[in-house]
Amino acid sequence: MDSADAYHNIVSFLTDGILLVSDEATITLGNQAIEEMFMVSKDSFLNKPLSKLIPDHPQILEKLRDTFDTGTTFRDVECMGFRKPDKTHFPINICISPILDKSARVESAILLVKDMSLLKDLQETSQQIDRISHLGTLALGMAHEIKNPLLAISGSAQLLRKELGDEDQVKYMDIVISETQRINRMLERMLDFTRPKSPSFQTTNIHKILEDIITLEKDPLSQKEGSFSQIYDPSIPTIQADEDQLRQVFLNLIQNAIQALPDGGEIRLVTRISSDYAIRDEKSQAPLLTIVVEIIDTGPGIPEKHLNELFTPFFTTKKKGSGLGLAISLKIVEDHGGKMKIHSKEGEGTTVQVFLPMRQS
Ligand SMILES: Nc1ncnc2c1ncn2[C@@H]1O[C@H](COP(=O)(O)OP(=O)(O)O)[C@@H](O)[C@H]1O
Ligand SMILES: [Mg+2]
Repeated sequence: MDSADAYHNIVSFLTDGILLVSDEATITLGNQAIEEMFMVSKDSFLNKPLSKLIPDHPQILEKLRDTFDTGTTFRDVECMGFRKPDKTHFPINICISPILDKSARVESAILLVKDMSLLKDLQETSQQIDRISHLGTLALGMAHEIKNPLLAISGSAQLLRKELGDEDQVKYMDIVISETQRINRMLERMLDFTRPKSPSFQTTNIHKILEDIITLEKDPLSQKEGSFSQIYDPSIPTIQADEDQLRQVFLNLIQNAIQALPDGGEIRLVTRISSDYAIRDEKSQAPLLTIVVEIIDTGPGIPEKHLNELFTPFFTTKKKGSGLGLAISLKIVEDHGGKMKIHSKEGEGTTVQVFLPMRQS
């Protein structure tokens, strides 16, 4: 093999993407990894501007300019790549280096492109788990400490109520009693959340769970003149899952959507099968097909500053919220080997996605 062949082989079999770019930011060469990463064939990007693959990143063009003008190398440049076929953006990490000709002039720039989606997902998930396990331990200890004195307060209040003659005093005492009961219920839910409960898998039909919840929640929704719509993928098979736990997840998410909805809004439930999501089988590490359930509402959306807090236990913006719905849901979904994502823009509604691996036996 001569050295040109050897280089050719190295470049085509590298799992990182390689792009050669001219001083006009035109792509003159790309390897197979680039085709796979961006899900396009070579002829759709060769001799085309780099912005076909990496749009809206003027800083990349600036850095390229620097590389051509001064021979500078840039490492770990983070930006978003664009997959045209499914119109998605995904995180990439780029290293830009100059290639010199015989007279030491910069002839072209070489871009080493790494797909960071999997790494980003792993980082997000592990941060979510950290937050939950830390707060979980704290919550368990606190719940135990609070429960006993609370029971004493509520018991005494009930005795005292019987002694009261004045109607107003009885009313106030009723508030003491009902509020202590509310705290007690919250503590119970906290304890539930932290008690380790591993899912007991059985054959489960996701669509049936969703339909049951719709039956249950139709009334509260129609009181707001809202409506459900369903777009189910009928090819979704039954899966091995803990039906009760998943029911709790989807009930939480659908109730959140109903609560967020203004009068006359719509909640759309979409199910589909996805193969491009990086969920792997624990044993074989083979990628698993994934069931995606989306709960899409036309509510007010979530302010950007809250997006990072949603899964944190006790985060709530509601007067009577527990802030545990999403935290518990995430825990359950992760116990099933899945993931959750929330996309939302203020004023544009919210999409909650639940990814569940399609384990069938
Ligand atoms: N569909 C949604 N639309 C707008 N905000 C939402 C939605 N789902 C969740 N949220 C926000 O996330 C917070 C936490 O939700 P959750 O964990 O279920 O607790 P809770 O419902 O008790 O407040 C909510 O208080 C709300 O601010
Ligand atoms: Mg909730």
